[in-house]
Amino acid sequence: MRTNLEQAATLLKGGKVVAIPTETVYGLAAVASNADAVENLFLLKKRPRDNPLIIHLHDAADLANYVESISPVVQKLAEHFWPGPLTIVLPVKEGVVLSSVSAGLRTQAFRVPHHPLTRSLIAQTGPLVAPSANLSGNPSTVTPDQVEKDFGADFPVLDGGRCKKGLESTILVWDEDHFGLGRLGAIAAEEFLPILGYVPALSKPQEKPFCPGQLYRHYAPKAKLHFTRDLSKANVILGLKGRTYPENARMYYLGVEDNPEGVAYSLYTLLRSLDDDGVQEAWIDADLPHTGLWITIVERLKKASS
Ligand code: TXA
Ligand code: MG
Repeated sequence: MRTNLEQAATLLKGGKVVAIPTETVYGLAAVASNADAVENLFLLKKRPRDNPLIIHLHDAADLANYVESISPVVQKLAEHFWPGPLTIVLPVKEGVVLSSVSAGLRTQAFRVPHHPLTRSLIAQTGPLVAPSANLSGNPSTVTPDQVEKDFGADFPVLDGGRCKKGLESTILVWDEDHFGLGRLGAIAAEEFLPILGYVPALSKPQEKPFCPGQLYRHYAPKAKLHFTRDLSKANVILGLKGRTYPENARMYYLGVEDNPEGVAYSLYTLLRSLDDDGVQEAWIDADLPHTGLWITIVERLKKASS
């Protein structure tokens, strides 16, 4: 059910959960300081309690309410990437975040989303928590229709059109004296080099910098997916335009090699369309580039097929 900005603000302030648009994917929002609303959100999404939430702020200055001080490096990241698809995980002051939001960690994830409707909304409601608006495990949603598919036609969705990026925010986690990469995302790791002076490295799920979400199954359609270069037995293929594939295979095109932004934009819609079409098994052409945004795309495809 589509709501407008005023209705969405009223629902959220009344403790309800509303799906909201961002530049990355749709989010399932609740007021960050409302314990009952946050509780409801975990139940709705069937989200494990040990997986903390991102607080979405109106602007970077609002960080001052949560952290002892905004360090110069955080200031620089914020100036460069916010509003935008970057999430920063920082140590926070005691008692400023609900323990359900931080999953009991002493750190908290923050981002300033880049979507005019959602920024206006946050200006009215205050900070919102917003995990991706999909049932846990499913691919994230990038259109209101996809949100309604997971949560039902009566679920309130603030319609902000289709998400521009199509992949979740990149997560940087502060680890004593440097940032590590908690999650690959819409910003390629190399893009941090000019700002940080290094390319943040991705850790394994259990290592530091720790990102609990990496422990869970993600982005997966119901179809059984194979990520492989051997397409000899494939009858349904996710591949690149302009390549030659077995003649009788049914094709789902990811896009073209030199436009990873375009591939990202349609990735989750493509994965969701496999289920819509009743596909049981499909093969992903694993011969994909290993640079820039392709690194995120390949990681999502591997997770979808694991
Ligand atoms: O693009 C996005 O970030 C979207 C839109 C809606 O903003 N949101 C999103 O939220 O992807 P979610 O909840 O699906 O993913 C949040 C990720 C999880 O992997 C979680 O484990 C991690 O952020 N995270 C949250 N708090 C953390 C913390 N204190 N330390 C490490 N990782 C944290
Ligand atoms: Mg998610």
